[in-house]
Amino acid sequence: MSFQPIGDQRVQLGDVIFSRISLVWTARVYSYVAAAEFVPNYSILCILLLRNVLFMSYLRLSIRTPSAPDPTPTVHSANVGVCGFVLAAFLFAHATVQAQARHQESSKGVSDPALDAQVESILQRMTLEEKIGQLVQYSAGQPTGPGTGRTDYEDMVAKGQIGSLFNVIDPRQINAYQRIAMEKSRLHIPILFGLDVIHGFKTEFPIPLALASTWNPSIVEQASHVAAMEASADGIRWTFSPMVDIARDARWGRMAEGAGEDPYLGSLVAASYVRGYQGARLDASDSIAACAKHYVGYGAAEGGRDYNTTEISEHTLRQFYLPPFHAAVEAGTASVMSAFNPLNGIPSSANPFTLKQILRKEWGFPGLVVSDWNSVGELIPQGVAIEGATAARKAFVAGVDMDMVSSLYHDHLQQVIKSGEATTKELDDAVRHVLRVKLALGLFQHPYVDEAAAPKALFHPENVALAQTAAERSFVLLKNANGPGGQPLLPLSSSVKTVAVIGPLADNPSFYQGGPPDEGPRVPFAAELTKRLGEGHVLRFKGVDVLDGSDDDINTAVAGAQKADLVILTLGERPDMSGEAASRAHLGLPGRQQELLEAIMRTGKPVVLILFSGRPLTLPWAFEHVPAVLAAWLPGIGAGPALARTLFGEVNPSGRLVVSWPRSVGQEPLYYNHLNTGRPPGDVDLTRPPTDVASKYVSRYLDEQDSPQFPFGYGGSYTTYTFGPVKLNTQRLGAASLNKNLNSATEVAMTAEADVTNSGSRPGEETVQLFIQLTGTSVAEPVRMLKAFRQISIAPGETTHVKFDLHPEAFAIWNDRNQFAVEPAKLNVWISPDAAQGAPAAAEILP
Ligand code: BGC
Repeated sequence: MSFQPIGDQRVQLGDVIFSRISLVWTARVYSYVAAAEFVPNYSILCILLLRNVLFMSYLRLSIRTPSAPDPTPTVHSANVGVCGFVLAAFLFAHATVQAQARHQESSKGVSDPALDAQVESILQRMTLEEKIGQLVQYSAGQPTGPGTGRTDYEDMVAKGQIGSLFNVIDPRQINAYQRIAMEKSRLHIPILFGLDVIHGFKTEFPIPLALASTWNPSIVEQASHVAAMEASADGIRWTFSPMVDIARDARWGRMAEGAGEDPYLGSLVAASYVRGYQGARLDASDSIAACAKHYVGYGAAEGGRDYNTTEISEHTLRQFYLPPFHAAVEAGTASVMSAFNPLNGIPSSANPFTLKQILRKEWGFPGLVVSDWNSVGELIPQGVAIEGATAARKAFVAGVDMDMVSSLYHDHLQQVIKSGEATTKELDDAVRHVLRVKLALGLFQHPYVDEAAAPKALFHPENVALAQTAAERSFVLLKNANGPGGQPLLPLSSSVKTVAVIGPLADNPSFYQGGPPDEGPRVPFAAELTKRLGEGHVLRFKGVDVLDGSDDDINTAVAGAQKADLVILTLGERPDMSGEAASRAHLGLPGRQQELLEAIMRTGKPVVLILFSGRPLTLPWAFEHVPAVLAAWLPGIGAGPALARTLFGEVNPSGRLVVSWPRSVGQEPLYYNHLNTGRPPGDVDLTRPPTDVASKYVSRYLDEQDSPQFPFGYGGSYTTYTFGPVKLNTQRLGAASLNKNLNSATEVAMTAEADVTNSGSRPGEETVQLFIQLTGTSVAEPVRMLKAFRQISIAPGETTHVKFDLHPEAFAIWNDRNQFAVEPAKLNVWISPDAAQGAPAAAEILP
């Protein structure tokens, strides 16, 4: 399946990279010298130094600014004509850059065997203390977890006792620490600086849940590349992202940070993040190392309460929770973060089965495993260690290479090694993993960041535009019933002259870890509306705050609503009500927002409700009474224009849910790809209590329906689509032959086709989804599983024929022996607009 890029972003980014490279040469000259003892080929070093000198001479004569790069050879040639020396310099530099580019194409990131010799050359010079130092990481800035009380980082860096620092975001501070590492530590091993860059660095993109709701891996890749470009310009070369945890429970606040409940979509998104962050090669100055987190099963926290324990069978783990991690590893992620959660009684940060057996042995992961924040220390309250030394030993032996903030590796690992509880080989392997990442990033060659260049990387107009596009494509139209004129309320009709914008969240809510709300070119939603409707035609009332509010405020908002033709309500969660440590037991509108909503509805004015949240909210009243509802998530820097363009119909909503939207909290965990029960309710009317035996003894609630409010894959549009019947090219497959070709990406096992018609009056983009069901297998399989999807643009009245090629792997399951294989089965195939609609075509898999 291929995804269309949404603009020639790469070219523009390439230009920026080019200009940045020029600015960091000076800093690199020093670092080449510093790194000389690790560079085996001194002639390459000399060439690089000479190249820099010549290249910088050329650059000094060129008229260009880093923020408006002008890197095309044609423009350069005008400058080159100024003097022959510069021409020679340019040609030499150009040839060298081209040679380097050719070499770049063959880069394999952390798995590159070319790193082996360098790793070994460093390793054999290290003392025990220096080796352990590489495995120690602290937060030296704004903490993102409970503190551990150390602050003597400068001294520790000088002694080679720290391998990585994070949460330092000032490039001057980054360079200051790096200078200590490069100048004062015995081996001059650079520090790796990390940060949670999770939905953009300063150019804030929609939260990951929203980004996934675009169903567009290409946008995810481009967005993460922008994040990498901005973060690396700041000196941050490692992000603790993507979060690839499967999330089936909206109570869990961290659902906001992931790609939802589906392993297939989650895997595509995971790989896209990794590619976007790490670029074509990791040592490009605008690439950063990715970290797939939280390994593994963290999203299955019992009761949706963060940090809680998880119980997941090996089958479920392999079939649902592991695939996005595997995809990230296959895409070359430089690192993986071990999670907090105990998994079947064994904490994820002390679990050799997941860390060594699966990650290292089965998948061959060559990169770095870092613990989560103090997850090594948390082995004590979790009950598998009673003091720090045991916690350090258990985590280390299980396969956690680097200890994030607990300090227990620093305190105890020497003793663990000396006593023989862990071997020197294990220690060396862990250090190798760290060094590989640092070398693959090119940190030894360019440890410093260009402080002057850092701000110039931020908020490039094309990147802000990309963030806006991403936001527009992430909005999910949940409901669009008729307004006063008997037409769907959205898009807004030209008869709407004055609108009242009411609610606490109209002013661009910003999720944490995004740029501060007042930074960058943000246009507030109400201001954007004023641009279109004119001064005096947009009335703004807060109504209530997210968590509280007064009767007076509600009354003022109601009076304001009376003066408008239409009300736009902006309600939902405060940004800090989702994300880490933000689980909720109630998923309605917090505070007095429901009261405000009902008071505004009583005015009889047409109402559009825009929901801001990091998860679905249970709002049955709103979905019954409010004519138009748009899930806007937390949309980032482009929120204002993106929302206005959507409401006015310049954008036709195309976002689709990546999580099942619950009717009630009591339904959670709720996910479309569940197993069937022995007593599915079938046609029983679940909207009323059971009245007889047939409607009682089925898998149901007495007081709620089983189905979600909106299913996985769902999303409305300003047009309508009609799906034709599914046609398969064969009704019979053979398990044996599919198993023979299980890993073939070219072998087509089956094709499935359907016509999709735009039956409405506007052009639109539909996400055509293909699901399968297998029955008769050794392990019960879900009622539906997403196996493919495609986004198609269709003009009104037009029909598009959509054909999917299904590869053997699509029919394989994790069987009762925990092997991935195709089994004989009955097969259903749907091509549908979401996980609840459509009629399947049947086939079977014979032995
Ligand atoms: C979170 C991680 C995060 C880390 C560093 C932890 O509390 O669980 O997702 O990467 O802190 O900020």
